[in-house]
Amino acid sequence: MAGFPEVRPRRLRSSAAVRRLVAETTIEPRQLILPMFVREGAREPIAISSMPGVYQHTRDTARKAVAEAAALGLGGVMLFGVPTSKDAVGSGAVDPDGILNVAIRDAVAEAGDDLLVMSDLCLDEFTDHGHCGVLDSAGRVDNDATLKIYAEMGVAQASAGAHVVGPSGMMDGQVGAIRTALDGAGFLDTVILAYAVKYASAFYGPFREAVDSSLQGDRKTYQQDPANSRDAIREVDLDIAEGADIVMVKPALAYLDIIRQVRDHVTVPVAAYNISGEYAMVEAAAANGWIDRERAILETLNSIRRAGADTILTYWAAEAATLLR
Ligand code: PBG
Repeated sequence: MAGFPEVRPRRLRSSAAVRRLVAETTIEPRQLILPMFVREGAREPIAISSMPGVYQHTRDTARKAVAEAAALGLGGVMLFGVPTSKDAVGSGAVDPDGILNVAIRDAVAEAGDDLLVMSDLCLDEFTDHGHCGVLDSAGRVDNDATLKIYAEMGVAQASAGAHVVGPSGMMDGQVGAIRTALDGAGFLDTVILAYAVKYASAFYGPFREAVDSSLQGDRKTYQQDPANSRDAIREVDLDIAEGADIVMVKPALAYLDIIRQVRDHVTVPVAAYNISGEYAMVEAAAANGWIDRERAILETLNSIRRAGADTILTYWAAEAATLLR
């Protein structure tokens, strides 16, 4: 005669050993991608105050961070450039000597093929108005004029050695334009990690400081409305049809439902970006002693993996890889 309760779910939680046996979700260093900022002309790394522990790297410290990422077995690094001068059309983005293209060459020289070198493909770091594209005479972001620059930027990044390019500007047709340009230049194996689903989010706040951006206005005419989810599926379908190899959802935490929907909808790998504001929230609460920082980091990454992300871009990538050892 069985006692009551007959079923005791607590049994499988009763020791660390049994919990380890039945854990469904895993986080492995190879699934983590470290975003990095490289600042033109910097002699010392510059702290980003809203992202404690994250720096605008010098070329030198960036190389060291890349070597460390490779040694930790991370999946890759995602590079962002912080140029010293910006203009209306983001000229630094297509210049082979522009900081991002220089940083790509440095990273590839450092890590060879041991680590995937990825680059953000967007104009906002390079434009003086801070928008992701060029503006028309009425001051609106001009989709098709921007595509021409993205195509050139993709070829510049692949020429610098990027293994993966990450279009993040949310222009219609960007993946197709970049794929055509890459193929035309012979870069058949350059992977496109498309920021397919990208919401107009308040959680990008600290990123503006990270890339010294002084955005005028907002990005609501090109990034998605947080109220919508069907629009995400539409964007993903389009990007895959245009040749995206991996699709990304961004941000991650306020959009775990979208990650799950996308994972269930597509057969390509799904990435998620655990963005600057998500990082800042945990760091700020931990600095106040309000939450256990390391547990919160791993719980955050677990939630994103459990929602269905195959890979995660996270500023904690190196630290998480160390914690997971
Ligand atoms: C666009 C880009 C942004 C981020 C990554 N790529 C900013 C934006 O679209 O507004 C944000 C990343 C973060 O907040 O951590 N170049």
